[in-house]
Amino acid sequence: MIKKIPVNQLEPGMYVSDFNAGWLSHPFAFNSMLIESEANVAHVIAAGIRELFIDTEKGRDVGDGVATAMEAKQETESQVNRMAESARPLAPEPRVSLAEEMMRARSTFSEATRIIRNLMDDIRLGRQIEIATTKPTVEKIAASVMRNSNAMMTMRRLKSLDDYTFLHSVSVCAMLVSFAKVVDMEMSAIHDLALGAMLHDVGKMRVASAVLNKPARLSEDEYRHMKSHVVLGSDLIRQLPGIPSLAMEPIELHHERFDGSGYPKGLKGMEISPAGRMSSIVDVYDAITSDRVYRKGMSPAAAVQKLFEWSKFHFDPEMMQLFLKSVGIYPIGSLVKLESGRMGVVIEQSNSHLLTPVVRVMYDGKRQHYLVPEDVDLSRPLGSGGGDRIIGYELPEKFGIDISRFLL
Ligand SMILES: [Fe+2]
Repeated sequence: MIKKIPVNQLEPGMYVSDFNAGWLSHPFAFNSMLIESEANVAHVIAAGIRELFIDTEKGRDVGDGVATAMEAKQETESQVNRMAESARPLAPEPRVSLAEEMMRARSTFSEATRIIRNLMDDIRLGRQIEIATTKPTVEKIAASVMRNSNAMMTMRRLKSLDDYTFLHSVSVCAMLVSFAKVVDMEMSAIHDLALGAMLHDVGKMRVASAVLNKPARLSEDEYRHMKSHVVLGSDLIRQLPGIPSLAMEPIELHHERFDGSGYPKGLKGMEISPAGRMSSIVDVYDAITSDRVYRKGMSPAAAVQKLFEWSKFHFDPEMMQLFLKSVGIYPIGSLVKLESGRMGVVIEQSNSHLLTPVVRVMYDGKRQHYLVPEDVDLSRPLGSGGGDRIIGYELPEKFGIDISRFLL
């Protein structure tokens, strides 16, 4: 049986089936392993892991009173749903339609990817860098998100496997702007924040590529070297003329964690600025939902549940609630199951309710065959295009569905 335990109950002989910390924030080769010694336990604690899953069939069991993985998952789901039901409406109505904004979002997204790629190449090659072209691009991203954030959120779901670091930079930028819109930040502050988001990982270009792209476990030294990207990037960007102080915050703070388990400074709670607390959530969300060469990304809806669960320790719970308002409980690209038995892909968030997005219905879950795609606005009553209800999310790989085919 899979059980969820706090890390202080972890003992040698137990088999960890899931470290419950995202792939990137722990230094273990695989997401499962037998705990062989007290040194292994200390290693897990040092990595900032607070709760994890053990498989009691493959290793030692734990005492009573511990939730099974299924119970823990259901508890998180019901907490997220309760939060969603009581949440106030989202940001104001989009100013233009999704179809209209998609055209601009597509060219802005690829322009931004090209610019950050060039900038990062310059850093890697030790050339002089300047950010004169980066500023207008991040302002274009911000303008697109302000007109209709669904377009940029669709573009980030369509990104390919290649060039993760560049695409991650653009994606984090777009998501942080969308988040800032929900927290009602002023436009000039949003521009500064977006610039910092775009540059948040530039320090990775000073990390050895053998470490940066290593799909296997990092040694202690390699992990330390990887973590140095925060300080390397901050030092590099801080000395550029005209860098606003707010732009430094995503760069310096995106790996800090609310419980003090992050790096480089191990700041805790409100010692981390609001922009820093926002950046860490967005960075992890994009990382765990992205496909990599060596693993498939998590479904957006599953990632929302995971982040909410981790927010007990790693993220500011209040910021987490605001983040959910910006992406929804079923973010764009989620495969959802409807009460009618049909299934579809979320293509647009609703402005009135977190649980009623627009869904492109395209699959009959009961008979397991494709349907002629139909866009259903779940915030509308029956007869005017709506009238169905989401009962949960599904994993596309279970049905062999390629989500990106239905996003455009
Ligand atoms: Fe980073």
